[in-house]
Amino acid sequence: MEKSTKLGWPFDPKTLSASSKIILMEDDQTALQSSSTIMTPSSSNPQILKPSSLAESLTLRSLCTWDREAVESLCNESFPIQYPDCWYDEVVSGGLQSTGLFDQGNLAAMIVSETKCLYDCNLEDQGILADSNAQVMYILSIAVSKKFRRLGLATRLLSHLFSALVEQPPYPRAVFLHVLSTNSAALSFYKMHGFEFHASLQNYYRIGENYADGCTYVKYTNGVQAPVTFTDVCRTLGSTICMPLKALCKMLSF
Ligand SMILES: CC(C)(COP(=O)(O)OP(=O)(O)OC[C@H]1O[C@@H](n2cnc3c(N)ncnc32)[C@H](O)[C@@H]1OP(=O)(O)O)[C@@H](O)C(=O)NCCC(=O)NCCS
Repeated sequence: MEKSTKLGWPFDPKTLSASSKIILMEDDQTALQSSSTIMTPSSSNPQILKPSSLAESLTLRSLCTWDREAVESLCNESFPIQYPDCWYDEVVSGGLQSTGLFDQGNLAAMIVSETKCLYDCNLEDQGILADSNAQVMYILSIAVSKKFRRLGLATRLLSHLFSALVEQPPYPRAVFLHVLSTNSAALSFYKMHGFEFHASLQNYYRIGENYADGCTYVKYTNGVQAPVTFTDVCRTLGSTICMPLKALCKMLSF
């Protein structure tokens, strides 16, 4: 994917806020393969898997102002856009929930999220739950340095996010994110951790002069079930009507 010097958002960077979208990088073929990852179900989060022992050995802490350069460099390495300065300010100043994993003091991976009311989210996201007063968590960014990929670092960060934030007050009822539809590594990562496809977002991202489709993935949390959609109702009605018809046809064919 072409590295863009422009913002990947379809709006003015001056309006950038915590709810801003991110561009996700496509599958990185240079990612290291590892057979050392031990994946077992976690007791508190049956669908969030446990990170590998290597990921466990790294230091996990909140990102601070002195991490700014390292955060910028990790983002430049991981995403095909350049974020504006104000985004980095929010990430390292405590304006957002941001956590890093450090290998001997060097930033190896990071995750950035925010918890907010559904009615404060972008319109296209408000369908993830019926109750617009519900608290939800939005994952703005997750990135792992190339040389540390496929070693369970993102899994550790996600697992930490769930135990430190999702399973704590105000108990967000859904965790969601946007992802470039062609980002197979991220799609596979989120699906593996129980996130489900919610919606397609046509031409959602601008990368340089081009537009690219995105999609929304959601994981319902703290005992919440996915809302019943019109499609679900049609599917249920369809199978309720079809079943007796099928049985009748079968009987008649004998
Ligand atoms: C997506 C990303 C965060 C994954 O980080 P990671 O530390 O490599 O992920 P983990 O090691 O915890 O991987 C867990 C699982 O995710 C899936 N996965 C991760 N990378 C993958 C890849 N390149 N191809 C296919 N599946 C992949 C696999 O199911 C993997 O389990 P496995 O290794 O047992 O097969 C990382 O590739 C990255 O930083 N990419 C660039 C930035 C980006 O796209 N961020 C995403 C979105 S917000």
